[in-house]
Amino acid sequence: MSSSSPSCILVIGATGNTGSSVVKHLSDLVTLLPSTTDQPRHIIALTRNAKKPTATELSKLDHVEVQELDLSSIDSSWLIAKNVVRVYVATPNQTSQFVDESQFLLVCKEAKTIQYLVKLSTNPHFITADHPIYYGRIHWALERMLEEKEFKEQVNWTILRANVFATGILSPSIEMWKKDKNKPMALLLDEHSPLALVHPADVGAVAAKLLSLTDPSPHFHKTYTISGPEDVTGKDIVSYVEEIVKKKIDVEYKNENVFKTVMEADKYPENVWKSMEKGHKKNLWTGQSRLANTKTSDEVIKLAAPHSTVKQTIQHALQGYLSF
Ligand SMILES: NC(=O)c1ccc[n+]([C@@H]2O[C@H](COP(=O)([O-])OP(=O)(O)OC[C@H]3O[C@@H](n4cnc5c(N)ncnc54)[C@H](OP(=O)(O)O)[C@@H]3O)[C@@H](O)[C@H]2O)c1
Repeated sequence: MSSSSPSCILVIGATGNTGSSVVKHLSDLVTLLPSTTDQPRHIIALTRNAKKPTATELSKLDHVEVQELDLSSIDSSWLIAKNVVRVYVATPNQTSQFVDESQFLLVCKEAKTIQYLVKLSTNPHFITADHPIYYGRIHWALERMLEEKEFKEQVNWTILRANVFATGILSPSIEMWKKDKNKPMALLLDEHSPLALVHPADVGAVAAKLLSLTDPSPHFHKTYTISGPEDVTGKDIVSYVEEIVKKKIDVEYKNENVFKTVMEADKYPENVWKSMEKGHKKNLWTGQSRLANTKTSDEVIKLAAPHSTVKQTIQHALQGYLSF
């Protein structure tokens, strides 16, 4: 079966933390491609709700078509009909993540038309068969699948292992604190343990760069680590907040309630957030994910070095709340 559609890059998770950045960067990058190359210039941004604000914003970008579809509805015929040749895949850490993403990887293999796939994985320290955090084991299993010959011989891929997202760690704390500034800020981080938090937009920039390369083959079957540009501690974060709001604040370090509240609100089962508690103790509060232990791969530095600082993330999160 062949397609009359222009060849395209499919972005799974397009409205999410990294996917929205992938789409924005790709929109710019494909515009710059020389007219002589036959690589894809069309971008399909997948969402389950094309009316949501992020999807509407993406639909205004050059070369971007927003497609409303559930990931589970995609089969190999759809990929072939849409002439999808390159793919970005970032699926949320729901309990169904392994089923959803492994099914999609199977579909890509069956289509036999996918020339290149970039998969977002998680923190390199979480990728073990026995990691306490449930999604560490999910990504471990997904990565193992791609490494097996059934996939490796048919799908060219790059795996991006990203350090903890700055927005994911800080936004819930800041949002809760903004609602009641007289309460101490509840921070999940330890006061003194360093951590190289990365902004998800910087992860998206790396993926977009890979997916727009005329010849991505040097990156086939490689796994790269992406950390932020600097280590920060809980104490650093508090000092950035204090600098921005121009007053001293009370803080509770290693406070897991804020995170637990978010997970309970999203109806994650108890064993899921309990698995994360164990993981935090092993990772966030020991300095395990500091730069020296979680070095950004040289290839990533060459492609699109992560540059967003945690201070910039906090400034953004506190915009409009500076009337103290
Ligand atoms: N948070 C961290 O600190 C961190 C660090 C490193 C790596 N990661 C990894 O990042 C990955 C998630 O990437 P992300 O944060 O960029 O994504 P995300 O923001 O969690 O979600 C991406 C998008 O997936 C879409 N989606 C959900 N279910 C779908 C379905 N059934 N069909 C189609 N689309 C669906 C949603 O969009 P719609 O609602 O528009 O459909 C959502 O906006 C995870 O695997 C995680 O392990 C996270």
